[in-house]
Amino acid sequence: MRTKVIAGNWKMNKTPAEAAEFIMELKESVKGIENEIIAAVPFVCIPAALTASEGSNIKIAAQNMHWEEKGAYTGEISGAMLKDLGIEYVIIGHSERREYFAETDETVNLKAHAAFKNGLKPIICVGESLLQRDEGVMPEHIRYQVKVALLNLSAEQVADLIIAYEPIWAIGTGRTATAEQAQEVCKIIRDVVAELYSKETAEKVRIQYGGSVNAQTADSLFSMPDIDGGLVGGASLKVNDFTVIAGYKA
Ligand code: 13P
Repeated sequence: MRTKVIAGNWKMNKTPAEAAEFIMELKESVKGIENEIIAAVPFVCIPAALTASEGSNIKIAAQNMHWEEKGAYTGEISGAMLKDLGIEYVIIGHSERREYFAETDETVNLKAHAAFKNGLKPIICVGESLLQRDEGVMPEHIRYQVKVALLNLSAEQVADLIIAYEPIWAIGTGRTATAEQAQEVCKIIRDVVAELYSKETAEKVRIQYGGSVNAQTADSLFSMPDIDGGLVGGASLKVNDFTVIAGYKA
């Protein structure tokens, strides 16, 4: 059985002080929840969030990283820097990074390798635009994104990472994919992993759905056979909503 994993992606929200305060509150309200709970906070909030999360079941993650170890990359953060802080997960290839910061499937793959090299587990984001869905090329697009993201990763690494299916048209729009739509694509993703690796590996990889997940929609989404939790944006900034979502029970 795969453990459900519910991750909050805070995006560019909260100062370090606000992050600490939020995590202190959240850790009380998610006590005892058995799903894996992650908060992906802005880089500068990581130390304060880690301190605040001590002794809790909340893991702190980063939202991005560079693929190089170090060097002349002004404004970037390396995997080694994140590992040194003590984090376990890093989001890679979010559609906002692809759209506003020119990330490509190739850089997603480079970052995935760099994450593992530094002992970090990537949460790799894929998803189609509305145009791609309407034109009927969603399956090819998703398959291509997954294939390139995973190029030259080992079966052990793939079994250990998380893939987040985030349809671009559902992000921040309040338009959640239906549980059936999300399940269809998460199954496509699992099938690609089975083709590239093995059925066994595909059964191990965890696949999240993201895109306007809220306290009302989480249950039906997470109960689908190929959806192993969620990557939550807006609703992860509210303690009560995120607690309900993270507390999903089969
Ligand atoms: P929303 O939940 O705000 O739609 O954001 C989803 C997302 O992009 C999580 O990474």
